[in-house]
Amino acid sequence: MLALLPILALCVASGQALWPIPLTYTTGNQTLWIDQNVKITYKASASQPSTYGSAPNSSTSTWTDKIITNAIERTYDTLFNKNFYPWKFHPRNTAFEPTQTRASTFIKTITLVQNASDPTDIMKPTTGDVDEGYSLAMTTEGVVTITAASSIGLLHGLTSFTQLFYQCNGGGGVYTPLAPVSITDAPKFGWRGLNIDTSRTFKPMSDMYAMIDALSYNKMNRLHWHVTDSQAWPLEIPSMPDLAGKGAYISSQKYSAADVQGLTEYGALLGVEVVVEIDNPGHTASIAFSRPDLIAAFDIEPNWDTYAAEPPSGTLKLNSPAVGDFLAELFDDLLPRLTSLSSYFHLGGDEVNMNAYNLDDTVRSNLSSVLQPLMQKYMDRNMAQVQSYGLVPLVWEEMLLQWNLTLPAETIIQTWQSDQAVADAVGKGYRALAGNYEFWYLDCGKGQWLDFYPSDAAQYWPFQDYCAPFHNWRLMYSYDPLTGVPDNATHLVLGGEAHIWSEQTDSVNFDQMVWPRTCAAAEVLWSGAKDAGGQNRSQVTASPRLAEMRERLVARGIRAEPVRMPFCSMNGTQCAL
Ligand SMILES: *[C@@H]1O[C@H](CO)[C@@H](O)[C@H](O)[C@H]1NC(C)=O
Ligand SMILES: *[C@@H]1O[C@H](CO)[C@@H](O)[C@H](O)[C@H]1NC(C)=O
Ligand SMILES: *[C@@H]1O[C@H](CO)[C@@H](O)[C@H](O)[C@H]1NC(C)=O
Ligand SMILES: *[C@@H]1O[C@H](CO)[C@@H](O)[C@H](O)[C@H]1NC(C)=O
Ligand SMILES: *[C@@H]1O[C@H](CO)[C@@H](O)[C@H](O)[C@H]1NC(C)=O
Ligand SMILES: *[C@@H]1O[C@H](CO)[C@@H](O)[C@H](O)[C@H]1NC(C)=O
Ligand SMILES: *[C@@H]1O[C@H](CO)[C@@H](O)[C@H](O)[C@H]1NC(C)=O
Ligand SMILES: *[C@@H]1O[C@H](CO)[C@@H](O)[C@H](O)[C@H]1NC(C)=O
Repeated sequence: MLALLPILALCVASGQALWPIPLTYTTGNQTLWIDQNVKITYKASASQPSTYGSAPNSSTSTWTDKIITNAIERTYDTLFNKNFYPWKFHPRNTAFEPTQTRASTFIKTITLVQNASDPTDIMKPTTGDVDEGYSLAMTTEGVVTITAASSIGLLHGLTSFTQLFYQCNGGGGVYTPLAPVSITDAPKFGWRGLNIDTSRTFKPMSDMYAMIDALSYNKMNRLHWHVTDSQAWPLEIPSMPDLAGKGAYISSQKYSAADVQGLTEYGALLGVEVVVEIDNPGHTASIAFSRPDLIAAFDIEPNWDTYAAEPPSGTLKLNSPAVGDFLAELFDDLLPRLTSLSSYFHLGGDEVNMNAYNLDDTVRSNLSSVLQPLMQKYMDRNMAQVQSYGLVPLVWEEMLLQWNLTLPAETIIQTWQSDQAVADAVGKGYRALAGNYEFWYLDCGKGQWLDFYPSDAAQYWPFQDYCAPFHNWRLMYSYDPLTGVPDNATHLVLGGEAHIWSEQTDSVNFDQMVWPRTCAAAEVLWSGAKDAGGQNRSQVTASPRLAEMRERLVARGIRAEPVRMPFCSMNGTQCAL
């Protein structure tokens, strides 16, 4: 029971709260309390078939009902079990906490209103299908209404709602110091993703689930799963057991078909669509552990760097019927298992090394004039198979901009090398994702993972990696996915992704490497890089909000790094220049 104390303490509103920042919002300075018995009610739109409110039955519930039920359950859990005491955001030795009295106002009703039907692909939306916007109104009398056109919009509204509340230390309880609240919100970009590499190092499923939680807390909506690469093949393909059987680092580091299914389902409930990538024809040396006949230039030593960006070298042969048969079998196993919960499949295509084809017995050349038509044929086969399953293909920018391939018009081009690449891809009429490595590669700045022999070491001192320095959150926050894109083509930029390439990131530092820096990308993608006045967003106002978001993530079980020392958060804008 909460103690009912006779004094009304003044509450110092921090007013930080929301990340990513909504399109428009106002907050006040009245305190409202909330208790665990408050009911959250859902009103489906008249046109929405709903079994919501009847006994939850996962085999008969619609996805809409499952998304809403899950969102409501998580709202209670977040508010009452995963909240935090915000002492860091108030000057030291001040009594900033409100005190519950007989006169305190409690949240009385929380009503979710869905005013339109979910699209039928709500569990695997293509970009633009789902209206993710919402509005939130909280009166000083404790009446809360969240309105949205979709269940995912309501989920985002509830996420914002939970961000308004804090844990009270003295006396307990959960309160907001910010009533009344009015929010109208919608994302700037439809594709707001994180790319996770699980080949260079393995991530246990518990880490993958936690990442989906963290993405959802940031209103991100795509988990791009770069599941395989040259170093290891952790993905089990039931009809081809040797692929992971021989290609995984160790038998305990594999993802089963059920793991993939489980993660995509978990993501679908939280509006995070899982997009699987099988990178090819480069980045495939790990296939040689089970099918050496398919891989050219495998494990060339010591000058592997002539044949690949990283050891071990090795690429799928480019003109081999056996490779075509292999890909057909691989994708016929994998793709039908993805289609119920994803609308996309990523076909890779980055960093293909032309010299490797000098050693490919089906090609024996590194000339563009020889390789380009073969690559077109190779990718045509892949594209046709992906499209035959109704999936929208993605490829890395090189296939379009370096190899000059003709790709299906619906292909999404994932850029990474420059801002110009975004402009070039949309200039050719394709839809594109941003994620310039100089801003949104989270692996950069950790230093080299290669060793240098003593005779060469001096020339590499101080052993920086190719994309150093470390990309701090301010750098990530300064990135605008629309840089250099003409106004008439901005609609073709679907959004972007931050990338956690994992040569030096495993389960031990995964959370810290990704969070809170990826929050910066999340805000750029949800709110846009420019503020309402068209100016670059201010670090000075972002930083206290981000510092608070970090505390929130930690309270919710994500081991995000600190943004700054408590002194800076305690004392306004003193830590500014
Ligand atoms: C709370 O907000 C009202 C309306 O803006 C203002 O008049 C009042 O001074 C504020 N109270 C405190 C304690 O800041
Ligand atoms: C759920 O629905 C299925 C199919 O209609 C039915 O067989 C089952 O008994 C239901 N379970 C519960 C707990 O209502
Ligand atoms: C549904 O609610 C959203 C969020 O408040 C609003 O933007 C939209 O206009 C509403 N749609 C209808 C049909 O009322
Ligand atoms: C192509 O291969 C030849 C060896 O056959 C090599 O001398 C040449 O440097 C290669 N071209 C490129 C662009 O690497
Ligand atoms: C693609 O086109 C550019 C510009 O015409 C050319 O330099 C490049 O060699 C072409 N790439 C291939 C693989 O043919
Ligand atoms: C944008 O305008 C330019 C110049 O008029 C034109 O060449 C280009 O095709 C347009 N792009 C789109 C995507 O409409
Ligand atoms: C805004 O940010 C962009 C980078 O996205 C930078 O090029 C530009 O100089 C900044 N503008 C101002 C006024 O600082
Ligand atoms: C911190 O903030 C308080 C007021 O909140 C102010 O009086 C003080 O000068 C600030 N600076 C330091 C170093 O405490």
